[in-house]
Amino acid sequence: MKLLAFRRWREKLWAHVHGGRVLEVGVGTGKNFSYYPQDAQVTAIDISERMLERARRHAARLGITVEILLMDAHTLAFLDESFDYVVATFVFCSVPDPVLGLSEVRRVCKPTGTVVLLEHMRPESPWLGKLFDLFNPMVVRLTGANINRTTVENIQRAGLVIKHCESLASKGIVKLIVARKH
Ligand SMILES: C[S@@+](CC[C@H](N)C(=O)[O-])C[C@H]1O[C@@H](n2cnc3c(N)ncnc32)[C@H](O)[C@@H]1O
Repeated sequence: MKLLAFRRWREKLWAHVHGGRVLEVGVGTGKNFSYYPQDAQVTAIDISERMLERARRHAARLGITVEILLMDAHTLAFLDESFDYVVATFVFCSVPDPVLGLSEVRRVCKPTGTVVLLEHMRPESPWLGKLFDLFNPMVVRLTGANINRTTVENIQRAGLVIKHCESLASKGIVKLIVARKH
């Protein structure tokens, strides 16, 4: 069931991407590869070489063409306004400075471009939010990911304008967000 939900969420996200130059931030092992639009020219980055090795093997298995680069989301090595789409799935819960990373996403996105994010975040319910705050240090130690990030606010703090925000799981824990520069 969980796997099906993730598949459905990824399909929903990629329905917003229509070719052109695409950057995937925090590609991991390449779980989004099979959703890449055929006419897109995709560059995928991650800070972990171990993840990238698995992503390269996965891309080869699927026979897809994707440029895979070792890079930190805090300091993207691309010129301003390089990409038509910047995509990330379940990444800004683990990037240490999410606002800096999202500012970089904004910088490399074209003025007419679109940022599409699938992220889990702090629940909207106040009491559940407090519970997640309590457990967050332990979860970070165990998994490296934060469960209480205020990602909607972080996206706005980075200067992006949210055009679409859709809750995909109960209490708003998982959201699909479409944002633009203006
Ligand atoms: C939970 S995984 C998600 C992977 C993939 N996007 C997916 O949906 O399966 C988070 C990924 O973000 C990467 N990551 C964390 N901090 C990063 C950073 N500062 N720059 C680039 N990638 C980063 C991790 O290495 C990891 O591959």
